[in-house]
Amino acid sequence: MQQIAATTAAALQEKITARTARVGVVGLGYVGLPLAVEFARAGFQVTGIDVQESKVSSLNRGESYVQDVPTAVLRPHVESGRFAATTDFSVVKELDTINIAVPTPLRKTKDPDMSYIVAACQEIAKYFHPGLLVILESTTYPGTTDELLLPMFQRPGMTVGEDFFLCFSPERVDPGNPTYQTINIPKVVGGITPACTAMGALFYSQALEKVVPVSSTSVAEMVKLLENTFRMINIGLVNEMALMCDQMGINVWEVIDAAATKPFGFMPFYPGPGLGGHCIPIDPFYLSWKTRQSGIEARFIELAGYINGNMPHFVVDKVQSALNDQSKPLRGSHVHVLGVAYKRDIDDVRESPALDVMHLLQKRGARVTFSDPYIPKVRVDGGVEMESMDEGVRREADCVVIITNHAKFDYEALVQEARLIVDTRNALKGIKSEKIVRL
Ligand SMILES: NC(=O)c1ccc[n+]([C@@H]2O[C@H](COP(=O)([O-])OP(=O)(O)OC[C@H]3O[C@@H](n4cnc5c(N)ncnc54)[C@H](O)[C@@H]3O)[C@@H](O)[C@H]2O)c1
Repeated sequence: MQQIAATTAAALQEKITARTARVGVVGLGYVGLPLAVEFARAGFQVTGIDVQESKVSSLNRGESYVQDVPTAVLRPHVESGRFAATTDFSVVKELDTINIAVPTPLRKTKDPDMSYIVAACQEIAKYFHPGLLVILESTTYPGTTDELLLPMFQRPGMTVGEDFFLCFSPERVDPGNPTYQTINIPKVVGGITPACTAMGALFYSQALEKVVPVSSTSVAEMVKLLENTFRMINIGLVNEMALMCDQMGINVWEVIDAAATKPFGFMPFYPGPGLGGHCIPIDPFYLSWKTRQSGIEARFIELAGYINGNMPHFVVDKVQSALNDQSKPLRGSHVHVLGVAYKRDIDDVRESPALDVMHLLQKRGARVTFSDPYIPKVRVDGGVEMESMDEGVRREADCVVIITNHAKFDYEALVQEARLIVDTRNALKGIKSEKIVRL
């Protein structure tokens, strides 16, 4: 690791290693809150900053709203004073480090929406001071930290890498994953200068198990986009395989399981009702937007986006033809959706394909209900709010469609009691029944 020699740098380095540095985390959601708690656990005094008053007061009462941070884990840090939250950015004056984890959605035109990052950085900039380490964690296009953030923080007479430090570190958290969490997911970090990288790496190494320094902020930004583009494209490939297998009467799940026995050169991905969540359906479009500016078409991304985006239509076609095989029309039939979260065992419905499937079913005249132990209510395409129903409704439905394979569902009872099941997740693997139609 590069030696950090300058006086400001040495002082910050000392505070970080002594764990007396005041840590700030801006954006207390799925990413920011677990990170804040990890630094509190490591012994730092952490201040979380968020614009949502309700989140801030909930945290200050010691109550968590993030599934990966149980209240029992958060509360001791609040009670000991290691963690506190605020909506007031003037606290930046007292901070030594700031991690930014605010949303980076896409606009309707699939262009990056940088407004949250800009808003957060404008507030930080008001109270910016020498000796500050700022690390952006929000997923974004390569060049953001250098082109957008650096000019916002630069001041006459202050040199980046000497008087303040700026890095990007991609967030790789996988909500609901019991094995890999913030503490043990290797943390990639790249700075504007080598001294920035060294400072960022030193900081993370206090709380996280493994740090991977890279040579620049752009490399660090691109790492995240490679990871998520890799997933998106492989899911697109396997979804297209599912369509092919469907045409040929081949069980795609069996094909994948058998292929996965190859000990090298193959990594299994699974088809499904479409992409969901805040990352995989969105992040690759940050990359394609950026490359389009240099005249490069990201063709794999566009193609995978097209295939994945069509999966909800394919699922609804499956439901319709399964009902038709029982001489029932989709129009007027009761279709019950099992699981609306975007993936198994989590409480997040953002970009969930369930919402698209439900919308398409409604458009074709079906009466739609849903059950999800993690999601009490959803609103489909701006319509009326729907409430999660007891799983027992499966007995009354003309068709049950499994969109999210939560472990909590009673699949045995489902197979016994439902009239017809469309399984988009292979949740009923190994169960033979005339009632089951698989993706
Ligand atoms: N959720 C994931 O699994 C995941 C994984 C990897 C990366 N990411 C990325 O991390 C970033 C954050 O995602 P998230 O899932 O934690 O989002 P989130 O919506 O759960 O949390 C973001 C928080 O930022 C707050 N916020 C918005 N504007 C703000 C501002 N100007 N100042 C202060 N706070 C503000 C919001 O109130 C919210 O609490 C995104 O770029 C996302 O793509 C998310």
